[in-house]
Amino acid sequence: MLIKIPRYNEPLASEITPREIAISRRSFLQGMAASSLAASGWAGSAMATESSTRQRLPAQRNAKYSATDKPTAYSDATTYNNFYEFGTDKGDPALYAGSLKPRPWTLRVDGEVKKPLTLDLDTLLKLAPLEERLYRLRCVEGWSMAIPWIGFPLAELIRKVEPTGNAKYVEFTTLADRAQMPGVRSRVLEWPYTEGLRIDEANHPLTLLTLGMYGQVLPNQNGAPVRIIVPWKYGFKSAKSIVRIRFTEVQPRTSWNLAAPDEYGFYSNVNPDVDHPRWSQASERRIGEDGFFTKKRKTLMFNGYPEVASLYSGMDLRKFY
Ligand code: MTE
Repeated sequence: MLIKIPRYNEPLASEITPREIAISRRSFLQGMAASSLAASGWAGSAMATESSTRQRLPAQRNAKYSATDKPTAYSDATTYNNFYEFGTDKGDPALYAGSLKPRPWTLRVDGEVKKPLTLDLDTLLKLAPLEERLYRLRCVEGWSMAIPWIGFPLAELIRKVEPTGNAKYVEFTTLADRAQMPGVRSRVLEWPYTEGLRIDEANHPLTLLTLGMYGQVLPNQNGAPVRIIVPWKYGFKSAKSIVRIRFTEVQPRTSWNLAAPDEYGFYSNVNPDVDHPRWSQASERRIGEDGFFTKKRKTLMFNGYPEVASLYSGMDLRKFY
């Protein structure tokens, strides 16, 4: 993950960025400066932080799967984002994601399944009862948030498509449209952004196909109209603006793993005992608790979701990072 303006307790971009990515990122930023997003009209898109205009999304709170943490402020959760399709700065998605059109939207579900599906958003919204779950999300960069997400277990969708016996993994492909996403012009990552899970991880009741947050539909910068939230894994596994879910026999290629295989593994379970090659994963900064004297929080194994441990019994989690 890349950070442009490090805060006092964050690593410098030069410390955390593989050289080739740092170079392509620099040229991306230079390109952005040269072409000027403002001049090209991107900056004209409304700051996507207004909550009052957003469509409400009623959902039943699921206490069993909700953390008791204090929720992160909406204003923080919607202005400090990673969504490289809109730029690599934390503030870029809020500034530029206004150009994303979350409707109409089509989600294709196919691959090793008996009943492939093509779903529009309204059908997806009615596929299963919507639940609100307060989940912690921890980024590999060392910050975390607690967000009331709205969605339903991915397992509900998986059940509908009836995976074949060959389906061992699930691949998520997200939108990569240059017309809507200025960052896709850069080569900072291989587009489209792809992520993957093992099928038992995808079927775990915690894995949430997510359509909203804070009682409303997802803001564009948080991955509208549909993303995945996998709360025990580092944030980059939680792919945004998904257009395709494909069931595969072989482990899918994933964007961050392709960019830096030594740093971003396929599993990427939150694990305070396995440091990222260039920085510790033992603690984290909760966004909104950034006072100068505020102590960082200790990072918990599986981000504090010990119920997933059985998915990995017998696996060496240093090897399968
Ligand atoms: N999905 C897409 N399509 N593109 C991205 O750049 N960034 C990931 C993940 N999903 C990313 C993405 C990373 S690195 C993180 S930490 C989370 O989204 C951040 O989600 P948030 O901005 O809603 O907190």
